[in-house]
Amino acid sequence: MLRSAHFLKIFILTFSLMLSWGGSSLIAQDAAAGQKVFRSYCAACHKIDRAMTGPQLGGINEKYAGDEEWLYSWIRNAPELINAGDPKAVALFEEWGTMMQANPTMTDADIDNVLAYIQQEWVASQTATADGGATGAGGGDQANPLDQPQFYYALFALVAVLLLITLLLLVITATLVSAVRAKEEQEPLRLSEIQKRTWSLLKNRFVITAISLIVLVGGLTKWVEWSRGISIHQGYMPEQPIKYSHKLHAGEYGIECEYCHSGVTKSKNAWIPSTNVCMNCHKLIQEGPKYGKEEIQKIYDAIGFDPAKGQYIEGYEQKAVEWVRIHNLPDHAYFNHAQHVVVGGLECQTCHGEVQEMEVVYQYSTLSMGWCINCHREEKVKTLGKENPEGLTVEDMGGLDCARCHY
Ligand code: HEC
Ligand code: HEC
Ligand code: HEC
Ligand code: HEC
Ligand code: HEC
Ligand code: HEC
Repeated sequence: MLRSAHFLKIFILTFSLMLSWGGSSLIAQDAAAGQKVFRSYCAACHKIDRAMTGPQLGGINEKYAGDEEWLYSWIRNAPELINAGDPKAVALFEEWGTMMQANPTMTDADIDNVLAYIQQEWVASQTATADGGATGAGGGDQANPLDQPQFYYALFALVAVLLLITLLLLVITATLVSAVRAKEEQEPLRLSEIQKRTWSLLKNRFVITAISLIVLVGGLTKWVEWSRGISIHQGYMPEQPIKYSHKLHAGEYGIECEYCHSGVTKSKNAWIPSTNVCMNCHKLIQEGPKYGKEEIQKIYDAIGFDPAKGQYIEGYEQKAVEWVRIHNLPDHAYFNHAQHVVVGGLECQTCHGEVQEMEVVYQYSTLSMGWCINCHREEKVKTLGKENPEGLTVEDMGGLDCARCHY
């Protein structure tokens, strides 16, 4: 009995060691940080192993060896270099025709990391191709083994094989025991006896704890998924004219909210992007992973673009895409995004939920007066920074005055 518990512990320990080893050997420290930067700032336009909206980034370290200073200023602020008439920058822009976005807040360390990540993925994909491995490093943004379904299939197969071996061993033991008993002319082994023994093994406390833990965690995850599903139906989630996904754009490709909702930092309204903003990328990205060409074609139908020729259709009568508005305060209430996002330092997610995980956006908060007031009672004012020792709240600054929110 004790031995089998021991064996299980050792097995689990080895297995978790294998896991952490697998994870850490795949992602070196700074490349891991670089992967985050890549996903948030670059993946929307670049792939490592092939061109997309921007050029392929694999091999970029070699291309700019000895010219790192230029490379760093380019990554930090390409538009500035292009506008200043830097010959290399202008040539690139003329070749590709889309302005790369500026990343003025990016530190040298961020750039070091992202370049290290690009190099690592590039080398890995090169070796994979040389080995004849067809899959390679793919888009370069999928290094975590835990994210991949194959990992779970493998895990499942492993468990199945282990169970089979256990069964086989049981059968062998039973046969041996029966043989010995037959020789010593004892009663042969009965099925009920095997059952009893198996049961006493299962009753072992460690095994029971392990199994109940698995069931509990599994159940909890399901429950969370289920309760999330419920809240989706509570929020307003109208069907939109194009199956645009925040999960894909803001989540997987990490495009900044402000890239499309450019009003948030400077005006009352966040603004819904115009079709021109979509075209910055979709002039070249003409197919999606889920709907193929169908949904992206709707952008072209609105703006008048011929994807086969890669040209705008002359004299086309453009139509706006009629997005259905989800959030709407009554006219008598005043709300200002810039004040909350810039001055108040609030994240979009505080009020809108985890939009980057939503396939279709829905209204996450109630937007009732009570909701505004509750936060104003509790939220400390950030503009005062460290000079806010008394922890002044928005309420203390007059945030509950009727006239602040009502015309
Ligand atoms: C909005 C799209 C976009 C984003 C986001 C973007 N790029 Fe670019 N990038 C481009 C385009 C387009 C070009 C080609 C030059 C041009 O037209 O401006 C380019 C060119 C480059 C080049 C020069 C390539 C060469 O062959 O010389 C490098 C290096 C580069 N990008 C790195 C990055 C990195 C690193 C990031 C993330 C921090 C990034 N880019 C984010 C669109 C983008
Ligand atoms: C590539 C462009 C793009 C990016 C990036 C983007 N959005 Fe959007 N967003 C849209 C479009 C288009 C709509 C209108 C269609 C819809 O509701 O899905 C929209 C709608 C919304 C709405 C609902 C607006 C309404 O009608 O009331 C919210 C809230 C929102 N976005 C928040 C965010 C947040 C938060 C982020 C960053 C995590 C983000 N968006 C990133 C394009 C974008
Ligand atoms: C910064 C670049 C960028 C911008 C801006 C952008 N997209 Fe995309 N879009 C992408 C990328 C990347 C993909 C995925 C391509 C892939 O994975 O093959 C995509 C895919 C799509 C798809 C296909 C989804 C699928 O699963 O088939 C649709 C539809 C789409 N975008 C609509 C829009 C609309 C509408 C806008 C403007 C509001 C927009 N996009 C703006 C980069 C962008
Ligand atoms: C303090 C809460 C709060 C924060 C933080 C916030 N929003 Fe909003 N958002 C609202 C409210 C309230 C509305 C409805 C406004 C109205 O109807 O006038 C709204 C509406 C919107 C809309 C609908 C269209 C429009 O022009 O108003 C978009 C898009 C949006 N928000 C995006 C964002 C993004 C992106 C961020 C983060 C950069 C953000 N919001 C941060 C509360 C917030
Ligand atoms: C999650 C917290 C939060 C929510 C929800 C919220 N606010 Fe605010 N609000 C703030 C913060 C923080 C500030 C202070 C910004 C600053 O430092 O000036 C603020 C400031 C304001 C101001 C300016 C007050 C002044 O002193 O001039 C107005 C007006 C306002 N909010 C309206 C609203 C309305 C209307 C709603 C609901 C639709 C709302 N807010 C929801 C956090 C919130
Ligand atoms: C922080 C912002 C804020 C402050 C402060 C505020 N309100 Fe409101 N109020 C709102 C918002 C947002 C709505 C709309 C909510 C809705 O439609 O559910 C609203 C709705 C109302 C309504 C209409 C209710 C309805 O059912 O249409 C009245 C009346 C009202 N407020 C009175 C007041 C009075 C009186 C004060 C001062 C004691 C006050 N409000 C302070 C944000 C505020």
